[in-house]
Amino acid sequence: MTSRSPCGTGYKGTIFYKGELTEATLLSRGEVLEVRGPAAPCDCEVCLEMGGTVALPGMVDIHVHLRGLLLSHKEDPRTGSRAALRGGVVAVADMPNTLPKVNTPENLKLKVEELGKKCLVDCYAYAGVPGSPEEVKLMSRLAVGFKVYPEDYDKLHVLEGYEGLVVVHPEHPDYVKESPEPGERAFSRSPEAEPKAMELFRSFKKVHFTHVSTPEGVRKAKDLGFSYDVTPHHLLLTNEVERRKKCKAKVNPPLRDEARRAELLELFLEDEAIVATDHAPHAIWEKELPFPECPPGFPGLETALPSLLTLYKRGVMSLEKVVKAYSELPADLLGLRLGRLESGFLASFTVVDLNSRWRVEPWEFETKAKYSPFEGMELWGEVVATVVRGKMRYFAGEFY
Ligand code: NCD
Ligand code: ZN
Repeated sequence: MTSRSPCGTGYKGTIFYKGELTEATLLSRGEVLEVRGPAAPCDCEVCLEMGGTVALPGMVDIHVHLRGLLLSHKEDPRTGSRAALRGGVVAVADMPNTLPKVNTPENLKLKVEELGKKCLVDCYAYAGVPGSPEEVKLMSRLAVGFKVYPEDYDKLHVLEGYEGLVVVHPEHPDYVKESPEPGERAFSRSPEAEPKAMELFRSFKKVHFTHVSTPEGVRKAKDLGFSYDVTPHHLLLTNEVERRKKCKAKVNPPLRDEARRAELLELFLEDEAIVATDHAPHAIWEKELPFPECPPGFPGLETALPSLLTLYKRGVMSLEKVVKAYSELPADLLGLRLGRLESGFLASFTVVDLNSRWRVEPWEFETKAKYSPFEGMELWGEVVATVVRGKMRYFAGEFY
């Protein structure tokens, strides 16, 4: 696109640019961003000009479950991507543990087609580990990477020869026991399960460990030289929340004790680590089953950016760190032209009011999963608008 092509959505005001806030004009030329000075005209079809807001690069979430197909009672790519937009997220990578499972070339094709039809943000699909290296080869064309679950640890040889991204759920089954007691899963699913699982990947070239929940896990990932992500819930919540909120706070890996939570946050602040939500919605009736039977997982897309912005407002982390962890580094990991408000990158950005404080009331969520372990918490930062590839997709409560 040349700079002469008409502008779709523009923004005039404060933007996050090269590590700091500055005044500028954002223009979208087709799907691509053009950044101009504050005096440049915003001659766009739609021009956002709102005092008190800042434009950030759109968030990139490398671990979500949009469900769909036979799990559409939990979530589908339409409701999941509406939740993403509400959370300032412009690109997501979807996990393959669906029904049917995305571990064959046929099912991957089905999944990608469904995402193509229903997603309002950029949606990418991970493939599950299939039965043969031939299938890995076929699937690597459509998938953004492969996801390895603990149940796949005994067939890692299938991935030999694959040079792309392998995202691993690190919980070694030998160190994992379920506790029927809310609050106790932090210990029955041992913190040792993370480093023990990671050790199995020592000979891999490119691995990314997801939802690392313990300092033990972070140290092992760093020791092996692999990247990792942490979730907002492991950074902010503890097993005491599981004790109180029971199924609504049940998740794998479990919420940890306060000492581990605090140390995880400390290590994350010192390091170049990614934030991902593990947005894992289930129907409310599933979460109302007795504690041993309710499935682990809860939604996260609508609380993630505000929970990070709350840490920013409390002076715990810089805005630069928020953008790096939830936009720049994940975009780089997936090889996307996202994560920076610079000319030539995709025109995908989010406009937030940093001075707005709101209470988490999950019945107002866009996800089908209208509950949250963050329920009742006051969070800072309200997403006012989200633009994806130059198109306004969300503005002030409305979707386009
Ligand atoms: C995940 C889900 O619901 O798909 N749940 C979770 O607690 N993270 C599955 C899983 O990762 O075990
Ligand atoms: Zn998950």
